[in-house]
Amino acid sequence: MAEQKVSDFGQCTHVVVRSIPDSFSQQALRMNDCGTVNLAGARRELELYVRVLRDKLGLQVVELPSDDSMPDAVFVEDVAVILDETALITRPGAPSRRREVEAVKKALQDLRLNVVEMTDESATLDGGDVLFTGREFFVGLSKRTNQRGAEILADAFKDYAVSTVPVYDNLHLKSFCSMAAPNLIVIGSSEGAQKALKTMQQMSDHRYDKLTVPDDAAANCVYLNVPGKGHVLLHRAPEEFPESVKVFEKLKDHMLIPVANSELAKVDGCLTCCSLLINKKNDP
Ligand code: GLY
Repeated sequence: MAEQKVSDFGQCTHVVVRSIPDSFSQQALRMNDCGTVNLAGARRELELYVRVLRDKLGLQVVELPSDDSMPDAVFVEDVAVILDETALITRPGAPSRRREVEAVKKALQDLRLNVVEMTDESATLDGGDVLFTGREFFVGLSKRTNQRGAEILADAFKDYAVSTVPVYDNLHLKSFCSMAAPNLIVIGSSEGAQKALKTMQQMSDHRYDKLTVPDDAAANCVYLNVPGKGHVLLHRAPEEFPESVKVFEKLKDHMLIPVANSELAKVDGCLTCCSLLINKKNDP
């Protein structure tokens, strides 16, 4: 099985994001009622997130237009899984989200990635259920992602091991975990998160370091390895999760960038959800 070069993990040249439509606040899917979504606030959160990626970190941002008939389309992570030059277009678990793939597929083709489609109508996969560690994939089996979806992912990325992890009480696997460095898994403290971590540890022949944070939602971070800056971690803001941020502050080798996400989180949006990260080695 392959292993990405440690120096490649987290490298990124381009980012695809998508604007938030007016329908977002009323119609975006949500697991629980977490209060009214402030549309202007959600747009401000996305704008600041994009500004960090583009202006602070120097990435090329492709911003797709919103479409009122697709209230959840801002969560582009769910519709593609990208590794190196290959992009697997998913078949999202929520039928209302299936049309989101078209615009993203076109954008990824325009970036000259090798686009692979998930045509099997028995498969479902949301990118939010896919954790790539640099050496293997963990795929959450959730309300959105099934075994067939995981099998098709394994076919698309044949060089890497793929293990499945049951997800309970959360929308996606990455609702409570993410990577913070090539060998470092950030994990929430809930019973469900800890159980999933145990499964991942049992399935893997590699021993990962872990960073446990008190809040599941804060365990979803965006890790990047940026030339001239090194390890960069976008994490939830101290106003939102002060105790978890104290844990991140122990990462002395990282550039830490707090990013507020509380309006997007009302409809189950995490920090990784709003971007597709692409590393074009031969940048056109
Ligand atoms: N609101 C994000 C999703 O349910 O897919």
